[in-house]
Amino acid sequence: MAKIDDPITIKSITFRNRIGMSPMCQYSAIDGFVNNWHYMHYGTRAIGGVGLIIVEASAVSPEGRITPSDVGIWKDEHISELKKLVENIHSNGSIAGIQIAHAGRKASHAAPWNGSKQLISSEGGWETIAPSPIPFDPSEKSPNEMTYSDIKAIVNQFRDGAKRALEAGFKVLEIHAAHGYLIHEFLSPLSNIRTDKYGGNFENRVRILLEVVNAVKEVWSSNLPLFVRLSATDWVENGWDLNESVKLSSLLKQKGVDVVDCSSGGNIISAQIPVEKGYQVHFAEAIRETGIMTAAVGMITSAEQISNILENEKADMVLLGRELLRNPYFVLKAIKNQNWPIQYLRAK
Ligand SMILES: Cc1cc2nc3c(=O)[nH]c(=O)nc-3n(C[C@H](O)[C@H](O)[C@H](O)COP(=O)(O)O)c2cc1C
Repeated sequence: MAKIDDPITIKSITFRNRIGMSPMCQYSAIDGFVNNWHYMHYGTRAIGGVGLIIVEASAVSPEGRITPSDVGIWKDEHISELKKLVENIHSNGSIAGIQIAHAGRKASHAAPWNGSKQLISSEGGWETIAPSPIPFDPSEKSPNEMTYSDIKAIVNQFRDGAKRALEAGFKVLEIHAAHGYLIHEFLSPLSNIRTDKYGGNFENRVRILLEVVNAVKEVWSSNLPLFVRLSATDWVENGWDLNESVKLSSLLKQKGVDVVDCSSGGNIISAQIPVEKGYQVHFAEAIRETGIMTAAVGMITSAEQISNILENEKADMVLLGRELLRNPYFVLKAIKNQNWPIQYLRAK
């Protein structure tokens, strides 16, 4: 039974506690490069005591960005700025992780504060790709159906992104297979109606993710943790669901994935999601039954909630999103014995 302040060791990495920062896009990069905003934003959460910081969805290709301002990891030039970010996080006691991603049919959109609308080429947008030519929003332009060579290229881009993440010094890699982005689009029979070996039955729909995991493992250190974020369900009848997520998680465990980060939704615009306190925790609990470690996330905002999840073995780690945007110092208060930065001791 783990407590809120227990460290956790995964492979060669020990996290000072079991609370992590969930990946959250800042839409503040230029040409994929992180900058002062990211150094301040992530550095503050590291000072604030989290055990792990998963840097936001970082695109493995320019076309894989949700917005033109997403962080990128598609070229070697990105590495040096990412390295500074990693050093900033590590020098403040947290472990730096990064989520690598391709947005698929949800790429080429405006930032939320500019309305999140699909961008056409005259607005700086680009053509999108997906398993099948079905747009996320029926009012949007359809993505192009991917060919075998597109699929191969994407798998290679994930591998190259993982290699750059390692070079930048990240200690945790998370493959983004959730929220209706490219890999999730393949998993769900509602967004994937292919009739070739990448569509149809479960084995075919999960094929691209397993290929990405294999490719990433060619370059990612076998001593470092590998996470996969899944949407455990589409929240829609006949869509991707918890049973398939459990089945997939067993395969991921066999492949050497360490942690499934259990989110949900994002693939079907009409889905009705019963958002409430801890509404995704039971997914982490069910997936953990396969023997793989899980991270719980979603509407978790108090130390009591976190203790309850860990002590009742519903998950091995807890990730916080918006609570850490509201309160970067959440962990300093939530964990009684947390070591405060010496510079802040007079405020303890
Ligand atoms: C501003 C913002 C940006 C986000 N960006 C990402 C992202 O880059 N990758 C991802 O997997 N989830 C992303 N999410 C989802 C969060 O990681 C998290 O799963 C979600 O907010 C639920 O947790 P919470 O209730 O603690 O905020 C984002 C959420 C927010 C609020």
